[in-house]
Amino acid sequence: MPLIDIRDLSVSIPTPDGDVHAVRSVSLEIERGEIHGVIGESGCGKTMTGMAVLGLVPKGARITAERFHFDGEDLREKAQSLRGRHIGLISQDPAAALNPVLSIARQMDDVIRAHRDLPRKARRAEAASLLAATGLPDPERVLKSYPHQLSGGMQQRVVIAQALATGADFLIADEPTTALDVSVGAQVLALLRRLVAERGLTVLMITHDMDVIAEACDRATVLYAGRSVETGPVEAVLNRPGHPYTRALLAALPDAAPHGARLAAIEGSIPPPRSAIAGCAFAPRCPQAMPVCAAEPPPERVRGTHRWLCHLPEDAA
Ligand SMILES: Nc1ncnc2c1ncn2[C@@H]1O[C@H](COP(=O)(O)OP(=O)(O)O)[C@@H](O)[C@H]1O
Ligand code: SF4
Ligand SMILES: [Mg+2]
Repeated sequence: MPLIDIRDLSVSIPTPDGDVHAVRSVSLEIERGEIHGVIGESGCGKTMTGMAVLGLVPKGARITAERFHFDGEDLREKAQSLRGRHIGLISQDPAAALNPVLSIARQMDDVIRAHRDLPRKARRAEAASLLAATGLPDPERVLKSYPHQLSGGMQQRVVIAQALATGADFLIADEPTTALDVSVGAQVLALLRRLVAERGLTVLMITHDMDVIAEACDRATVLYAGRSVETGPVEAVLNRPGHPYTRALLAALPDAAPHGARLAAIEGSIPPPRSAIAGCAFAPRCPQAMPVCAAEPPPERVRGTHRWLCHLPEDAA
């Protein structure tokens, strides 16, 4: 049984101008011990998918799904209680995740105290040990610091240590390196890989950067306009992509393009989130679109554990 088992998830947010279909149909299976990348342009529903798993959708949002399970439990009922106990969040902006007026020692202690019944000295030792586990060289100094005294990369390590302190074994990392320098971001990815190997964690890695998929992930799912359109092992998705959107993402990757600014290079834009979509959402931008594409939902194409949705026959990919 996969740790995360999501089938046909949708999240709609009512607004005065009509429903925003933030997530239209996402299916996602994440096995224990893998780093599963979720990639797509801005606005494709990556963050909202993660927020739904965390039980943090906006007030009034409607969630529907055929299956929406974490470790066999229905997330529609259990997300609130699983968050912070089994599921942790690492967000894009570590500075915003930390309280600017409290020392790291106090913030680590608040988390450890909430989850573990330990005397004060043992909690302090645990805090130092968790900070050391994230590769921070001088945990005692970090504990005495305030967030602004730490670099972005150090802050992100503190956020990761806090997530570990809750005992969470599943982490949702939402663009965890976007706010960091390329080399510091690479170190944070290496840290997550090490923690997965050493502690048996499972990670949902949200990104708009194919390099992050290639560097850090075992499997990947591509989202387009709120739908999962392709999923599979990273080598298959990168080397033999099935969906024309995935191919366009990869083609938009000239080696010289600035890191992180790349997905903008596909011509056209994603459909507005309030519109209804009849056939394939990518049809207006797809170089291989056929008349059927705009009218009929595309069928699933399967190559082992590599799957995608497209009207093109499997051998065309
Ligand atoms: N609170 C909200 N109210 C209305 N629309 C929202 C809200 N949050 C996100 N959206 C919309 O939902 C869509 C998906 O957003 P998001 O999941 O943040 O995309 P991504 O993380 O892939 O960039 C976007 O069109 C976004 O504008
Ligand atoms: S279904 Fe048609 S429009 Fe959509 S990706 Fe496939 S070929 Fe392109
Ligand atoms: Mg996002």
